[in-house]
Amino acid sequence: MNSSASFHHSDAYRAWLGYRRIAPGERYNQYELYSSIVISEQDDRIHAAATELSRGIEGLLGQPAPLSDYRNGDACIALGTFGHSAAIDEVFQDEALAKIGPEGYVIRTNSTLRCIAIGASSSAGIVYGVFHLLRLLALGIDVEALDIAENPVNRLRMINQWDNMDGSVERGYAGRSIFFADNRITWDSERIRDYARLLASSGVNAISINNVNVHRVESKLVTTQFLPDVAKLADIFRLYGIRLFLSVNYASPLEVGGLSTADPLDTTVREWWRTQVAEVYAAIPDFGGLLVKADSENRPGPFTYGRDHADGSNMLAEALKPYGGVVIWRCFVYNCKQDWRDRKTDRARAAYDHFKPLDGKFMDNVILQVKNGPIDFQVREPVSPLFGAMEATNQMIEFQITQEYTGQQRHVCYLVPQWKEVLEFDTLIKGDGSSVKRVVDGSFHGNAHSGFAAVSNIGDDENWTGHLLAQANLYGYGRLAWNPELSAEAIAEEWIRLSFGGDEQLVHTIRDILMSSWGIYESYTAPLGIGFMVNPDHHYGPNVDGYEYSMWGTYHFADCHGIGVDRTKATGTGYTAQYAGANMEQYDSPANCPDELLLFFHHVPYTHRLQSGKTVIQSIYDTHFEGAERAEGLKASWELLEGKMDRELHRQVADRLAEQATHAREWRDQINTYFYRKSGIVDQAGRLIY
Ligand code: GCU
Repeated sequence: MNSSASFHHSDAYRAWLGYRRIAPGERYNQYELYSSIVISEQDDRIHAAATELSRGIEGLLGQPAPLSDYRNGDACIALGTFGHSAAIDEVFQDEALAKIGPEGYVIRTNSTLRCIAIGASSSAGIVYGVFHLLRLLALGIDVEALDIAENPVNRLRMINQWDNMDGSVERGYAGRSIFFADNRITWDSERIRDYARLLASSGVNAISINNVNVHRVESKLVTTQFLPDVAKLADIFRLYGIRLFLSVNYASPLEVGGLSTADPLDTTVREWWRTQVAEVYAAIPDFGGLLVKADSENRPGPFTYGRDHADGSNMLAEALKPYGGVVIWRCFVYNCKQDWRDRKTDRARAAYDHFKPLDGKFMDNVILQVKNGPIDFQVREPVSPLFGAMEATNQMIEFQITQEYTGQQRHVCYLVPQWKEVLEFDTLIKGDGSSVKRVVDGSFHGNAHSGFAAVSNIGDDENWTGHLLAQANLYGYGRLAWNPELSAEAIAEEWIRLSFGGDEQLVHTIRDILMSSWGIYESYTAPLGIGFMVNPDHHYGPNVDGYEYSMWGTYHFADCHGIGVDRTKATGTGYTAQYAGANMEQYDSPANCPDELLLFFHHVPYTHRLQSGKTVIQSIYDTHFEGAERAEGLKASWELLEGKMDRELHRQVADRLAEQATHAREWRDQINTYFYRKSGIVDQAGRLIY
């Protein structure tokens, strides 16, 4: 591969892998010393890593870094797996190496040997090690005495594409699919390779390439019609340590197999899946497994045949087991047709009610994928009570990088702080220290499989993510999946320096924009944890009763007396009882419930006093005014950066921030007017009546 292949692309395209030239000076001289690369193994992945290193050094120093297969005594960077490379084994001879897991790496500078060595127990570890060294170089870190050992905290660090084969992307806000067009797999292999590089550099190791809502044509991805092309995609991702998965339609035996049933206990159905899985593994020997959305939002599933989720997933798990594959079964299951008059049925309860009773019934290669909150990726939700509640079942967390309900990449909303909050949440299931991050890294219950998944935010837009600042979410997701201990702020700063360079005013300004953005978005949209209030179907823009499953008020129950959903044990839906100990008590009590979730858990009068001291109605009014003002402030801060970056990059973001500021005012006015009228504080003409 041409090492300078993507240098003709724009800065926006190269994203955080721009490898911007560093100024002459101390660091430049230090790095220049190590500008030859030694690899002695014949391995495609190690070769791809070395090519990346060479490309990166060329970008940073402006001169190529030659590859060679032996050390000639010059200072160098050596890459290799332990026991297979003389240069590596010379540097690493100690005990610490035993602690390096399958995807981990060690980077060490040996000044006597004049070598920076990147050692790992597998070629995937080399890929991560190389990207990390490049990150250090691009950040201008001193490399004279490096001694870094890293293992990913989470085993599965997955991206879910919601791409359809017609080229559209469900909830995509950055153009068309880079994988599919016209019901075929597309062949922009450079773009796909660059995506694989971006993902691997942040720490991702798995990808499912098609939407969880699987249509008839996508059901054929597991058949010989498409497998040769799917295998080519898998080859590209494999080079960067990323395993490929596919989403499947539970009714595939009917839709494409010509059978008369998809009953998981039917022997012909089981046989059909076994055959398909065998064909998949013949084409892609390291295939990751199947992702399934079943009995959810009208998708087919085992319920049709009177079977449950365990029957449904185990049937697929059995077919995958001989190959080491897994079934990822989504828990996003709820009754779309809930009647608004029935105040006991509660969508928030659904995942727990469906899955908790099945604990212990899933095979050990089934993983339940649970959305971070009980509803659907709202700007504010409590953490799903299902995390940790199933002791004998593998679980992973699902986040949404694509900003369906958080501004659709037209508003800036840096989501890493939200994800951090979820991961740090203590479920208290076994007392203090039962955090969500421990459930999803598998250590809490000692699971065989666990990890992170997230819905991607990319498309074929030149800058990948529509809003340039939304790249920070993609980068941040991978970094957090690798190490949930990293702070949202540190990740933001890393991303900014890698993407825009190290000008301190620029770094601080963009960091402040990112770090404040979630709170700002929250403050001018749906208030106090209530959720939705968006236009139907596309879910963009304010519409208090607009959400298609709102059922005339299910999500806020606002009337002239009060607002919010009563989810308490005594008088509400009983959802609070799904939490353990003090969490349950806190959420169950309107006096103790955190303000930002009050209306998620309680129906209260508009005059109810929050912990902040304000009444609910006053707080709605104030936060919406502040939010719109702060959105205006984001625009003003960005303007100060003119001249500090490429003009085109600056303009792209400036345009989006201007739209956001206008749109925030629209949110403010719609929400405030609605609730002022509803609460009887103003009449139809807008006159204050008390
Ligand atoms: C949301 C989203 C859908 C998506 C679904 C899911 O409801 O609006 O487009 O299919 O989540 O997660 O399956």
